[in-house]
Amino acid sequence: MVKKIILDCDPGHDDAVAIMLAAASNDIQILGITCVGGNATLENTKLNALKICSLIERTDIKIYAGSSKPLKYDLITAAHVHGKSGLDKDGDPIVVDASYNIQKENAVDFIINECHKNIDPIYLCPTGPLTNIALSLQKDSSIKEKIKEIVFMGGAALCLGNITPSAEFNIYVDPHAANIVLNSGIPLTMMGLDVTHKVNVNNEIIENIKKINNKASIFFAELMEYYSRFHRELYATDESPLHDPCVIAYLINEDIFNGKLVNVQVEENSELTRGKTVTDWLGVTKRKPNCKVITEANAKQFFTLLAKELAKLI
Ligand code: BDR
Ligand code: CA
Repeated sequence: MVKKIILDCDPGHDDAVAIMLAAASNDIQILGITCVGGNATLENTKLNALKICSLIERTDIKIYAGSSKPLKYDLITAAHVHGKSGLDKDGDPIVVDASYNIQKENAVDFIINECHKNIDPIYLCPTGPLTNIALSLQKDSSIKEKIKEIVFMGGAALCLGNITPSAEFNIYVDPHAANIVLNSGIPLTMMGLDVTHKVNVNNEIIENIKKINNKASIFFAELMEYYSRFHRELYATDESPLHDPCVIAYLINEDIFNGKLVNVQVEENSELTRGKTVTDWLGVTKRKPNCKVITEANAKQFFTLLAKELAKLI
């Protein structure tokens, strides 16, 4: 059955690839894209979403603006990874279709209304800070029944963080929102750094996808060339983790991934460990498991899928 999703994102180079993968897949129907402040300001992330959908000529996809800042903290952006615009790259600038605009309805209201409107339960796919999702749950907790699963990119269960030694960026930015989602009782799947660092893009993969030679694959290559610079420097390797598309690949083919249902809670306040996803892998706390934490991926299958889907786009 085709999965109905809301892609809640902060594009972002890897968010852009997630959008393209979801737009291409016949197994997924995008009900809408909701934007949040994260990698860049909300102004930029919503503009970037318009650019991405314009480039792939999918201006039928509706885009909604959500929260410009986390629940309690000030916004921290990731210009060090994605550039000031959130989608810096070499090559031609992307032009937004003149008649393509952000929807008037707020992202939070859109999420709530869409949950109630659809007969089939829907999948929420956050690939940025979890602010919009937490605000939706706070505003109308009855949507819990309508959500089949939340598959989110965030966290570092058993590995190092990437914004601090303890924390992954999305969770660090809004740890309070993450705890609201983690304690919602909704079925959750966490695609954290544990797994996304097993789905690495390198020059060979970029070149192979570029050979598809459609707009989407050339855009993918331009994005990855920029995005790889930061990772090459930080990790001293040619391998860059392709975080956000893991969420979409999981929805298309769960068999690419493996994980374990455990309890995850987030540190909200500590200066040293804010945003740490405290993961009870061994079950030592006896807290009820609330989240399937994915730790393994078959990268070959992932990139075969990605290339096949990007080839279907314009
Ligand atoms: C996450 O942070 C952002 O920079 C990426 O888009 C991804 O969602 C990885 O930590
Ligand atoms: Ca993201």
